[in-house]
Amino acid sequence: MLWGGRFKDSPAGNAFKFSSSLEIDINLTSEDIEGSIAHAEMLNKIGIISQEELEQITGGLDQIKSDWKEGKWNPDQSKFEDIHSAIENRLFELIGKAAGKLHTGRSRNDQIVTDIYLWLRKAIVLSDDKIKNLQLTLIDIASDNIDTIMPGYTHLQRAQPISLAYHLLAYVEMMYRDRERFYFLKGTISQSPLGAGALAGSTIPLDRQFTSSKLGFVEPTRNALDTVSNRDFILDFLNSCVIGMLHLSRLSEEIVIWSSFEWNFIKLSDKYSTGSSLMPQKKNPDLAELIRGKTGRVFGNYLAMATTMKALPLSYNRDLQEDKKLLFDSFFIFVDSLQIMSEMLKTASFNTTRFLNELNGDFSLATDLAEWLVMKGIPFRDAHFIVGRIVKKLEEKNKNFSDISLDFLKEIDPIFDEDALQCLKIETALQRKKTYGSPNPEMVKDTIGFWKEKLK
Ligand code: ARG
Repeated sequence: MLWGGRFKDSPAGNAFKFSSSLEIDINLTSEDIEGSIAHAEMLNKIGIISQEELEQITGGLDQIKSDWKEGKWNPDQSKFEDIHSAIENRLFELIGKAAGKLHTGRSRNDQIVTDIYLWLRKAIVLSDDKIKNLQLTLIDIASDNIDTIMPGYTHLQRAQPISLAYHLLAYVEMMYRDRERFYFLKGTISQSPLGAGALAGSTIPLDRQFTSSKLGFVEPTRNALDTVSNRDFILDFLNSCVIGMLHLSRLSEEIVIWSSFEWNFIKLSDKYSTGSSLMPQKKNPDLAELIRGKTGRVFGNYLAMATTMKALPLSYNRDLQEDKKLLFDSFFIFVDSLQIMSEMLKTASFNTTRFLNELNGDFSLATDLAEWLVMKGIPFRDAHFIVGRIVKKLEEKNKNFSDISLDFLKEIDPIFDEDALQCLKIETALQRKKTYGSPNPEMVKDTIGFWKEKLK
């Protein structure tokens, strides 16, 4: 116990269990030790602990770290309130009295924020790596499918033809924004919390610059009160996971649709599908569904944290201890989902000939026909109306664009000529796109080149 002095009784068993966070913050063992070593070195520098004591402390902490990594030290969760007390207790067992000097000028309030900052640094790098890896997978598939035509949708109704490459590249864009969100987060954790104490610093002349640079921060935080109350970085991280998962969930939803018999656009490998316990013929896209499903939990984690924070007076309140469970949960869901998504896509096969015939003659090129009229000088509203009438007439006769003859077009408007029929050809629809950012295969090729260069 770190605080027994003023108490007559120890906490009740269930109260202790209820308040312990060790089960969760055990994941911060390495970071806690890293912070403690920097703190001890600083205490030595300002003359609070001797060189010999410093060596005992750092030796003991190093041992705890390696014992933990090798599974030789695993603190009893029923005995300790958190990882900080478990480590301090173990240090006493290993080196005796000198351990009692380590916590000088430090509170678990600044200690825990420091630990999480150090953990987040690695979590950000890992998240970024996994997103990038998925971007590369998407770009790989896109490279092979620049001319793979497929319907583009709005309202889940066929709208205009696009390519598979173009569709997947939309996700590459989203994922780039996801990475930028993590990059922003990196900037918000660049100041060292260590030395903020419980809420108001210390009368001991702690050298915060020293611990700050030891731990790789830019500078110490300016306001101790804010330092120990702040969990914005958790909200930012959880929100980065929220938006990142939201993108994965949309992609999952598309994979689910695409893999249905009706759509028949993607075939998932057996390795990333599951069967039914009852229906022998079934092959289900469960992994995509689970990514979609877990997204709900990640949304919930953000909301749980925001709700926990919303009415907390400054500064530290024990409510904040609930942060780590949410943080780790969202992080592991996110990075696992990214990995699964990447492998699921890599091992899937796309039915690349599926749509050419389907699209041939449907009304997906109605806008192109209207734009042809615009280029002949017809105001767009009129062109829209003319083509709308063509579609209506064809529909009445149960026909489509492939049944169109020049005579039929001329009957509606004499401006039409042979050339107009060309813009109803699905095979060349993408090549006819003129605007930057469209699915024109030449532009898509350039975009792929851009990403390959950027993600090098
Ligand atoms: N376990 C706490 C947390 O994770 C840190 C301990 C602070 N406890 C305290 N009584 N001040 O937030």
